[in-house]
Formats: sequence, structure tokens, C-alpha cells
Amino acid sequence: MKLPRNFYKPLAIGAPAPLRELPVRLERMIHFVPPHMEKVRAKVPELIAKVDVVLGNLEDAIPIEAKEAARRGFIEMAKASDFGSTGLWTRINALNSPWVLDDLVEIVREVGGKLDVVMLPKVEGPWDIHYLDQLLAQLEARHHVQKPILIHAILETAEGVKNVEAIASASPRMHGMSLGPADLAASRAMKTTRVGGGHPDYRVLADVAEAGASRASAQQDLWHYTVAKMVDACAANGIKPFYGPFGDFSDAGACEAQFRNAFLMGCAGAWSLHPSQIDIAKTVFSPDPDEVRFAKKILDAMPDGSGAVMIDGKMQDDATWKQAKVIVDLARIVAA
Ligand code: GLV
Ligand code: MG
Repeated sequence: MKLPRNFYKPLAIGAPAPLRELPVRLERMIHFVPPHMEKVRAKVPELIAKVDVVLGNLEDAIPIEAKEAARRGFIEMAKASDFGSTGLWTRINALNSPWVLDDLVEIVREVGGKLDVVMLPKVEGPWDIHYLDQLLAQLEARHHVQKPILIHAILETAEGVKNVEAIASASPRMHGMSLGPADLAASRAMKTTRVGGGHPDYRVLADVAEAGASRASAQQDLWHYTVAKMVDACAANGIKPFYGPFGDFSDAGACEAQFRNAFLMGCAGAWSLHPSQIDIAKTVFSPDPDEVRFAKKILDAMPDGSGAVMIDGKMQDDATWKQAKVIVDLARIVAA
């Protein structure tokens, strides 16, 4: 799941990198389900065919009185289906909560062999990852789980953002990281009650000198800084960055715009909290066919990945060859 460091580099001058099979799964949407609800569990087999990842949520949004039922429900849903190539993840409770130990002990004992990734909320520093890493190692050994369970951190505290690079490199189990805009907003005392997305008051005005009294203004992306910081930390460590939740299910356009910013910035996917967001994520995190066609032209025009050529009036060189390869490789996994 970890990408080799030279992933998007040509293997050697004069010898083009083969468009080889990628060791990564498609994870365009991490689809959240509340596993304590029987009618939701009943729909899991249908979901498996539609989404890249099914995640049983045990943390926030699960009422305190349903925590045990959610854990049991997750174990039941994990046992009941063959997930095939669809990822099976769980979001456990926070490390300082009364539920997390039982979450891990019971889930790894019962379905550790089927579980791909544990999502850890409220990660503040590498010490949180080290603790979970050791605990997973003990539980895997006790229950003879052969495939290591990976860790996905939610970046949702100011302290976590401060330590993002150390978190990204904390363990070979690190799968990736998601932005958690709701908790992060609270942690930073941002003045918004929205879960992700923009805010109508976060904007800049055109200069009066340029635009006169009726100057236009444009809304800015509240999350740009954190997404950029997270993407760099993840890319530098060969793990995958994700945008997290978008809470306004009635605004598909805004959800798509937020997901698209994340895609363009380097994110591999986003969370879907509502069925309507599955297709949004699928469209946004799959490369645009016109872009793929253009990227293929670049690869074809520079068979050894070096030199400089003009395509449709645009300069291409070794660097744009690598950019094109990112897009073509992703298109190949989507088509597989
Ligand atoms: C997600 O957990 C968030 O807090 O946004
Ligand atoms: Mg959160």
C-alpha cells in the first residue's frame, strides 16, 4: 500500500519506466456506515459493489449508548460479506476514550484477517501512531493475523497539524491521512459550524483602485493550507492524502467543488457520508477523459521520458512526462 519513493520517476535515463501495475487500491471514496443500525448493515452487500471502501464508524456520530452495539454490528457486517477488492475499514474511538481498547481487542480477535485499515481519530503526534502500532502488533500476533492492519490518521487537531510530518512517517503501517475539518475547526477556534466546504464570509475583495466602488469579491478555500500541508507530508512519505467529510448533503455542487480542489492538490479520495456523495467522489477522483487523452499524447511523444517537445502549442519535458504519468497511471487503475 506504501508507494516506493521513486514512484513517479523514470527508472533510468534513456529507459522509460514501464506503465507497471500499481501496488495501490482505488480508494476514491471512504464510505461511512453506522454499524449499530440493522437496516444499514443489511445494505452492505449492495454497497460493496458500489464503493471502493466501506468503513464501519464507531466514533463521533455514534451515540454513547450505541458504542457497544456499533462494535458488535461492525464485527457482524465484516463476517457476513465477502468484500472482494472493496476495502474494509473501521474508525475506532479516540485513544483517550473508554471504548477504544475493546474496539481493537474485539475487532482484531473476530475479524482481524478481513480488516484492511484502522482509521484513528484525533491524532496529535507520532506517539499516538506508535501506541496503536504496538497494540495492533500484539493483537495480530495473538490471533495469527497474517496481513498487517494499516493505520489511517485523521488530521483534525491543531497539534496534529503541527506534527503532520512526524505522523506521516511514524510507522510502516501508515496508509494515509484524512483532513477532519469539523474537529479541526473547533480545535483552532475557527468561527464556523459547517463540516468542511467554504464559508460565504471567507473572501477577498478586488482592489478599489482597480475595480471601483462596486468591486467584486471571491470566496477563498478555508482548507487550502491544511490540505497542502497534509499532501506534502503524505507524498514525502509515500502514503495517501484524503479530503474528509462534507456535511451539507443538500449542496452537491459545493461538495463536488471541495472534492475537486482536493483531487487537484493531490488527494486520492474523500469520505462519503451520504449515498449521494458516492458518485460525486467517483467522478471527481477519476481522471477526466480529455486530460487522460492529452497525458497519453505526452507519454507517446517522449518514449524515453526525456527531452522537450511541443504538443498543441504547449511545452513538454521530463517534468511534464512525470505529471502525465500520474494521470495515465490513475486512469489505468480506474479502468482495471
Ligand atoms: C471528522 O472527523 C471531522 O471532525 O471533520
Ligand atoms: Mg472528527
